[in-house]
Amino acid sequence: MKTPTYSQLAHRLETDDAPGWAVHSRALSLQRSGEDVVVLSIGDPDFRTPEPIVDNAISHLRVGRTHYSPALGELNLRRAVADYESRVSPHNCSIDEVAIFAGVTSAIHSVLACLLDAGDEIVLVDPQYVGYEPIIRALDVVPVVVDAPAHQGFVPTYDSLVAAVTDKTQVMFLNTPANPTGSIIGLDVLKQLAAFCQQRGIWLVCDEVYSMFTYERPHTSLRTAAEQLDNLVVIDGLSKSHAMSGWRMGWAVAPKALIEHLGRFATMSMFGCPQFIQDASAFALNNDEYYVRDMCDIYRKRRDVVCDLVNASASLSCIVPEAGMFVMVDVSRVNADDVLFAESLLTEKRVSVLPGSAFGNTTRGHVRVSLVQPVEQLQTGCQRLIEFTS
Ligand SMILES: Cc1ncc(COP(=O)(O)O)c(C=O)c1O
Repeated sequence: MKTPTYSQLAHRLETDDAPGWAVHSRALSLQRSGEDVVVLSIGDPDFRTPEPIVDNAISHLRVGRTHYSPALGELNLRRAVADYESRVSPHNCSIDEVAIFAGVTSAIHSVLACLLDAGDEIVLVDPQYVGYEPIIRALDVVPVVVDAPAHQGFVPTYDSLVAAVTDKTQVMFLNTPANPTGSIIGLDVLKQLAAFCQQRGIWLVCDEVYSMFTYERPHTSLRTAAEQLDNLVVIDGLSKSHAMSGWRMGWAVAPKALIEHLGRFATMSMFGCPQFIQDASAFALNNDEYYVRDMCDIYRKRRDVVCDLVNASASLSCIVPEAGMFVMVDVSRVNADDVLFAESLLTEKRVSVLPGSAFGNTTRGHVRVSLVQPVEQLQTGCQRLIEFTS
């Protein structure tokens, strides 16, 4: 008798959790059993979604905004995104250049699915956000990874990115500001990359989900750097900036022809996002002045607390991140094996951090501390971390 089987895609997605996540899962189960654990291993904002956005969603629910929605998104939200993108870059953005997705993850998957075939190459940076790898595996494309080591401030150089391009490269993929390091790719490098990719006929795609949390200088979008936009895709969303991770709201800004492909892709994959969530997201984008700024200020203060404690310690150090919600702490003088370090830190001091190797080779010997806890918790966590290394 023939046994029913699974697709190759299902098998490609079948891997064990990276060792790093084991630390996080153990921290949560210790916490559930009543242990005093300081959890610094997640990237989900601790803030509640600002009340006016919640109220807006509820009011739209009450008036029946609960029906099917166009695959590319409601016009009011596409307009709000286009207006936002027009404000943050010198290029005007039209509604035809915007597609709405259920979070940045869905936007990245949809965009890459419309740009890459199995066997094509995508150039990416190490370290990288852990969510990219499963998408790349699902699409059966070949990742070509470029190191952005600590001595470069975790920023990839133009030369190393360009050297990774071959005849099979279809996409160069960037993330600025970056998870896990909070590094920012400067305007000049973005400019050069945009010109290079344009000339080589390669797509340049940038995940900018931390764009609203920069601390010393304003975010520079790929759209700001580029002169020509016909091979560029910028992806952003509200998960981090507006503490709306569970609402699932993201978007892609891309040339009109790609948006049309994305519309067909979204029709068969999502068939539209919830109307009341899109209404509240449009409201959030049109009225984000104070609450985004307030959250950004709080993250900056938290970053300073963590970096000051770490850099004053005898055996730990960190590069002060310019953006985002994480600090990469160098623990290599204590233990070059970051997985072992994180495991023992949790066992002995009840603090959970993610091993740097979960994000790539360049962050081995580091651990990632997230800033999504109040200052008192961060201080307690850092004090225990420092005690552990003394
Ligand atoms: C760089 C980066 N991109 C994308 C995501 C996922 O975003 P979303 O929750 O909107 O899918 C995250 C989440 O941590 C991230 O850090």
